Order: sequence, then C-alpha cells, then structure tokens
Amino acid sequence: MASTSVAARAATEKNIYVPEVSDLVRVEKMSALETLFEVRLPGGRDLGHQPGQFVQVSLMGIGEAPISICSSPLAKGTFEMVVRDVGNLSSALHRLKAGDRIGIRGPFGKGFDVEGLQGKDVIFVAAGLGLPPLRSLINTLLHPGRRGDFGRVVVLYGVKHPSEFIFRDERKSWETRKDLEYHVTVDRAAPDWNGHLGVITTLIPELKLDVPNTVAAICGPPVMYKFAILALRSKGLRDEQIYVSLERKMKCGVGKCGHCQINNVYVCQEGPVFNYGRIKDLKEAIQ
Ligand SMILES: Cc1cc2nc3c(=O)[nH]c(=O)nc-3n(C[C@H](O)[C@H](O)[C@H](O)COP(=O)(O)OP(=O)(O)OC[C@H]3O[C@@H](n4cnc5c(N)ncnc54)[C@H](O)[C@@H]3O)c2cc1C
Ligand code: FES
Repeated sequence: MASTSVAARAATEKNIYVPEVSDLVRVEKMSALETLFEVRLPGGRDLGHQPGQFVQVSLMGIGEAPISICSSPLAKGTFEMVVRDVGNLSSALHRLKAGDRIGIRGPFGKGFDVEGLQGKDVIFVAAGLGLPPLRSLINTLLHPGRRGDFGRVVVLYGVKHPSEFIFRDERKSWETRKDLEYHVTVDRAAPDWNGHLGVITTLIPELKLDVPNTVAAICGPPVMYKFAILALRSKGLRDEQIYVSLERKMKCGVGKCGHCQINNVYVCQEGPVFNYGRIKDLKEAIQ
C-alpha cells in the first residue's frame, strides 16, 4: 500500500531537479549584450510565478544558470526573461533563435508580496540589468485590471550609457502614461542625450513622497544598493519600507547545495527579494 502511494505521488509531483523542455517563441535583441527570450512551457501552461522569482535555465551539455522572470504573472501563456551575454550558458543562449528549445526549472525563490502592496505608493530603483526583475512587478501594478489597487508607481531607471537602455518600445509608452512617474538617467552622456546625467541615486532627492505610505524596491549592480538605501533613508523611509533583490552564485536553486548561502540564509529560498530591515545585519548581503 505504502509503495503504491509513493509511486502515485511520484507520478503526480513535479521533480524540482528535472528541467522541462520549453519552446523559445521570441528572441529579441535589446542591446549589444542583452537579449529578451519569450518562453512557452509544455502545453502553454502558466509558470505561476510571483514577481521577483527566478527560473533555472539549462542547455543540454552546457549548463544551467538562474535567470529572473521579467514578465508579469498576469501575462498568460508565455513568460519572458532578459539575459546578458557574459559566460558559457548565456553566450550559448544568445546563439539560439525562435523555435529552439531550452530547459526550465522553477519558478524558485521568494518574490514580492503583491497583495501586501495594495494601497501603497511604490518606488522602483532599477539600475542596468536590475530593470528586468523589477519589470515583472512594475507591469503587475500597471495592469489595467490591478492599477486601481495601488497608489503611485514611480520608476527610476539608470544605465551607464544611453546605448545600454533596454525595453525601448515599452519605455516609450511609460513616458506618456498618466498613472506612472518615470525618470531615467545615464552616468555618461552620448552626443544626442538631453536627459538627466548622474548615477541613479541622484534622482532620489527630487522625489516628493508620502513617506509613511511608500515602499521602495531596489535592483541593480551590488555597488549601488548601499547608496540607494542611504538616499531613500534620507527621504525618511525606514529599512522595513525598503525591498532589495539580491544575486548570489547559485547551483541547485532549491536550498540543497549551499552555493547561495549568506550565514544561515539561503538566497535561493528566502530571497532573492528581501525586506532590507530583515537582512541589514547580515554580513556580505549588501556591499
Ligand atoms: C536570482 C538570480 C537572478 C538572475 N537573473 C539574471 C537575469 O535576469 N539575467 C541575466 O543575464 N543574469 C541573471 N543572473 C545572473 C546569471 O545567473 C549569471 O550571470 C550566470 O553566471 C550566467 O551563466 P553563464 O554560464 O552564462 O556564465 P558563467 O560562465 O558562469 O560566467 C558568468 C560570469 O561569472 C564569472 N564567473 C563564473 N564562475 C565564477 C566563479 N566560480 N568565480 C568567480 N567568477 C565566476 C565569469 O567570469 C563571468 O564573468 C541572475 C542570477 C541570480 C542569482
Ligand atoms: S543555490 Fe543551492 S542552496 Fe541555494
């Protein structure tokens, strides 16, 4: 009897170590180094993720890497991710085209508590490749069926040079939306750049905030977190009102191998999205 129930359970439960062979339905170059991949799971099943979660992407014979999901869970049938060409797996992914297949495990980790943001003003501080993971939440809050549930949505987006901007078409529509406050900056201007110049934290002092009702979400290169947190604190935000999405070297993605561990915290399980108030004393969490 017992062995039957184990067998039955094995047949119905998803094995978290086995990638699902999934289709690339769109491959779109976003910048010199970054490409968007739209992925369809077998049968068009929804991934069922929370904004901020990640998947483990694999290619047979090459390897596996954690990649953030950049589309909203409210977009049905497929999901999206943006990959930077930096190493073995990501370079191999960049050689693929629509119609090719990749392996997907997940979604893994802990993302943003979307319902906990109801009624709140949300500020996004996205630098460089920090935009894709935050875009999943931005597009959830901006979704026509949900927009009325949240307060102000403020997106701050910075890159080193204008050539590094991604999601150009989508961001054009952000510029004209009345229900979104959207500000961009670059560290170094190009000759035709007329916008704000300076690192992303220089956008924060100008913001007028309803401090008690505001939550901030930060994602970007490790060096930026400390300064973004300081700038938000100087506007009056408490550490508990700040969320950070962290990256660590990962292997299993499911709390078994210890690769992502900071002291007793497994980033792949308890993160990558953390409340800053919860991890501020965790050595090495923020540079
Ligand atoms: C939660 C999470 C979400 C992520 N989301 C995204 C995303 O949305 N998009 C994206 O592009 N990336 C994302 N990443 C990063 C991505 O997983 C890594 O860049 C990954 O290493 C790429 O795999 P690769 O095989 O292409 O690169 P690798 O061949 O692993 O090389 C990647 C870089 O790391 C260096 N490196 C590799 N191994 C080591 C080592 N042992 N010690 C020191 N340096 C090393 C390499 O020199 C290279 O610069 C995410 C990571 C995490 C943890
Ligand atoms: S990646 Fe293996 S424990 Fe987190």
